[in-house]
Amino acid sequence: MTPVWQLVDRDLEVLRAAGQFKQLRTLTRPMGAESEIAGVGRVVVLCSNDYLGLASDPAVTAAAIEAARQWGAGTGSVRFICGTFDYHHRLERQIAELSGTETSTTYVSCWNANEAVLATLMAIGGDSVCVISDELNHASIIDAIRLGRQINKNSKSAVYKHSNMEELERVLKEASGSSCRIVVTDGVFSMEGDIAKLDRIHALCTEYGAMLVVDDSHGVGVCGPTGKGVAEHYGLFGRIDCMTGTLGKALGGAAGGYVASRANLIELMVQKSRPQIFSNGLAPGSAGAASKAIEILLRDTSRVTKLRENVRYMREGLKSRGFETVEGPSAITPIILGATAKAIAASKRLLELGVFVIGFGYPVVPEGTARLRVQISAAHEKQHLDRALDAFSKL
Ligand SMILES: Cc1ncc(COP(=O)(O)O)c(C=O)c1O
Repeated sequence: MTPVWQLVDRDLEVLRAAGQFKQLRTLTRPMGAESEIAGVGRVVVLCSNDYLGLASDPAVTAAAIEAARQWGAGTGSVRFICGTFDYHHRLERQIAELSGTETSTTYVSCWNANEAVLATLMAIGGDSVCVISDELNHASIIDAIRLGRQINKNSKSAVYKHSNMEELERVLKEASGSSCRIVVTDGVFSMEGDIAKLDRIHALCTEYGAMLVVDDSHGVGVCGPTGKGVAEHYGLFGRIDCMTGTLGKALGGAAGGYVASRANLIELMVQKSRPQIFSNGLAPGSAGAASKAIEILLRDTSRVTKLRENVRYMREGLKSRGFETVEGPSAITPIILGATAKAIAASKRLLELGVFVIGFGYPVVPEGTARLRVQISAAHEKQHLDRALDAFSKL
């Protein structure tokens, strides 16, 4: 055996020994309020990002099928060669409307979108660019900044303590030697379920002349009076420099990501961002699903209202059963249990009780803060939530 295979085997053993080995569950029915897991059976799903229940909505599925029928399975090329189809432009106009920006461009994932915008801006910034990031930002933002620093070794980056506005201001001041400061934050923090203090962040960016980038992957469809996200929640809709997000959560749950901003920034992404130049355009099925999901969200906010009611019901139910939950406008409710083994054991027990909810431990979350992450959807009816709450009572 070559030493590399030994490395691989050893690393997997380390993961197993540390209790960090992820067990992939195989679903044998579509995702919705309920699903079915091979070897387990029917379960209530409390771990999906399909916040509006659109992933299995008949209109969304039909739009995906129709797009594939009309355009085929994929683009067969990257966007700048022959992989830009007219559905891309339609979807990108819809995303801009949803984001309150001039225009937008799409990628096959939000991971790629974050990498595109941050690494490209860092690459062109010489020694004048400094990216300032919340410590709990998503891994795609962290890795995008690492990549940007590799591409342009003169670029700088700094991290501030989670949602600590005094520290953000201090970092902004410390970075005053960088004329191009970029503050990047998740809109909703995926493991905490709390939302960025966007009013304060926006004010600080304005005061210090910094650009603001918000990844609202968990906020779109969930936060704000009409579900347009965290910016709308704070009355800042249309005033954020640059929004990124995924098409794989509330917006149909298929796949894809976007950067939405001023026309020139988007043009730069098209011209220079490597995840678009060297990777295929979004496939018709995914684009069709997202397009229909956005159309539904823009036309009818009843799913947003139902989601909010479900979140309130579930949080109250958990609280009355003695679980500590975090308040907030998002659909994510973490229940902190401390040790990783405890969170994993709790999620196993809940699965036996017919509830699919994931336990997260280190290194996904900081050591000692392992948790169950409960995610609610507009797809849930009261009977699903009651079944889940009964299971939590038994737990
Ligand atoms: C905040 C945030 N950004 C980006 C992503 C990546 O999204 P995608 O699955 O489209 O790559 C996720 C996915 O979990 C996320 O939570």
